[in-house]
Amino acid sequence: MPEKFFLTTPLYYVNAEPHIGSAYTTIAADAICRYWQMAGVKTLMLTGVDEHGGKIENTAEARGIKPQEHCDEITEKFKELWACLNIDFQKFSRTSGEKHNKVVEAFFKRVHTKGDIYEANYEGLYCLACEDFKNERELLPGQLCPTHHTKVQNYSEKNYFFALSKYSDKLKKFFKDNPDFIQPRFRQNEVNSWIDEGLKDFPISRSSVKWGIPVPGDENQTIYVWFDALLGYLSPLLEEEVVFSKDFDQEDNLAKEVAKLEFWPADLHLIGKDILRFHAVYWIAMLMSAEFPLPKQLFGHGFLTKDGEKMGKTRGNIIVPHELIDKYGVDAVRFYFLFSIPFGQDGDFTEKSFIETLNAYLANRLGNLFSRVLKLVQTNCEGKVPDLKLDSSSPIATAAVQLADKVEKHLKNYELHLALTAIFDFVDQMNLNMTELKPWNLVKSEKPEDLHTAKLCLLETLEGLRIVANLIYPFIPAMAEKMLSVFAETLDKNPQNAYKTVRKWAQLKSETLLNDPGILFNRIK
Ligand code: MSP
Repeated sequence: MPEKFFLTTPLYYVNAEPHIGSAYTTIAADAICRYWQMAGVKTLMLTGVDEHGGKIENTAEARGIKPQEHCDEITEKFKELWACLNIDFQKFSRTSGEKHNKVVEAFFKRVHTKGDIYEANYEGLYCLACEDFKNERELLPGQLCPTHHTKVQNYSEKNYFFALSKYSDKLKKFFKDNPDFIQPRFRQNEVNSWIDEGLKDFPISRSSVKWGIPVPGDENQTIYVWFDALLGYLSPLLEEEVVFSKDFDQEDNLAKEVAKLEFWPADLHLIGKDILRFHAVYWIAMLMSAEFPLPKQLFGHGFLTKDGEKMGKTRGNIIVPHELIDKYGVDAVRFYFLFSIPFGQDGDFTEKSFIETLNAYLANRLGNLFSRVLKLVQTNCEGKVPDLKLDSSSPIATAAVQLADKVEKHLKNYELHLALTAIFDFVDQMNLNMTELKPWNLVKSEKPEDLHTAKLCLLETLEGLRIVANLIYPFIPAMAEKMLSVFAETLDKNPQNAYKTVRKWAQLKSETLLNDPGILFNRIK
């Protein structure tokens, strides 16, 4: 178990309202953080928005409002969505604030002092949607960006450059020495090939973009949005009084303040595969230049596609999260995306498979088992935990107490879909056991031993469901809390406390009343 855990999501562009693609990363991040938090690890989850740059400047202009006004409005939409999706973040980073500006300025100065920033002319091609430079050979016919299918622009400016090429060997060595740094591991090949092709210095300022942080000492240029945004992982961690102190950007002060931080570096930057280069190459080189501690891991997940194409704001083929949430509920959305798409790979969304999955797993396998057991306990045990002694070596008991270790192993490997699969394999095992024993028939029998077998089966299933309710909590917290509320009289309601008993059997206190949770998940027609 880690001692502490600091996870970041990307900072989302506020050029448009959030879509299911942005929600996907954030849901996964929340599930991972909730797990560690529940397991007693000191956890920090940071999410936020990326507000500067030409793309957002143009969007605000097209709306006829000031960039700040536009950003404030869209930022609220992100916050609203995270609240709807039960995202339990602790820090929200905004890159348009004065505090962030100060941190970026201080960082810029530090890297400049290290001799890694210089002025030169740049000519090339630029994709505004990616906010990134492109090589002619990676473009689609008609000079279209391969990710966004929008035309790239000719770009020619005198800019400040970051000496990325200087870090080629250091980066190569770093990835060789840290083979687990990039996850899933197959994404390392891509990073190696970028380095092997030869890293070029890149411009980190713009004279044509006004909506950005001015370059220290040169008011005619603003800092490139990516150079600014990556530091959005750091700025919310620093205290106001530190950042606004008069010596903040002097000498080694920033480095000293970073060294004091409890949550730095990040244990995990969770990102989509399209922004791997910025994190694996630019960000790491920037931190190397500043001599700041490097993050522990990057995980690049796949894309959600619709009809095989990346869903995105620029392409306009998005799914609006609120529509899905309103129609099917928050846990349905969380569950589907975490369970149905092997984490790290692309996954296509169709409403049909969405509905089928939810009915099969949440309504049939879990929901039915839960309500069936509770109904039988209601009618045959006065709604109370049966007063019987459980066998701790039964197949159900053995599988139940091993489940937490399985889930945790998958979580450590970021196999979120496999963690959920392990939970549902166990639910299936309990369903099978019920189907074989048929307690609903046994309770009608005249023989006392049949009634005993039936009640034992119910008790065993209740114990198993107690463990399931806990382990499923990070993924679908609302439904898990509803499940845990059934055991509220016999178990601590707080998932963190209840989790302490997930590796133990026979924890439910005999004769305690079980609360009625109502229907767990309504079957979708
Ligand atoms: N602003 C930058 C990130 C800066 S981090 C310091 C950015 N923003 S973004 O809004 O365009 O994308 C944010 C994240 O959402 C990326 O990780 C991206 O991969 C993810 N997704 C955007 N569309 C997606 C899908 N269709 N599917 C899955 N994730 C997607 O890049």
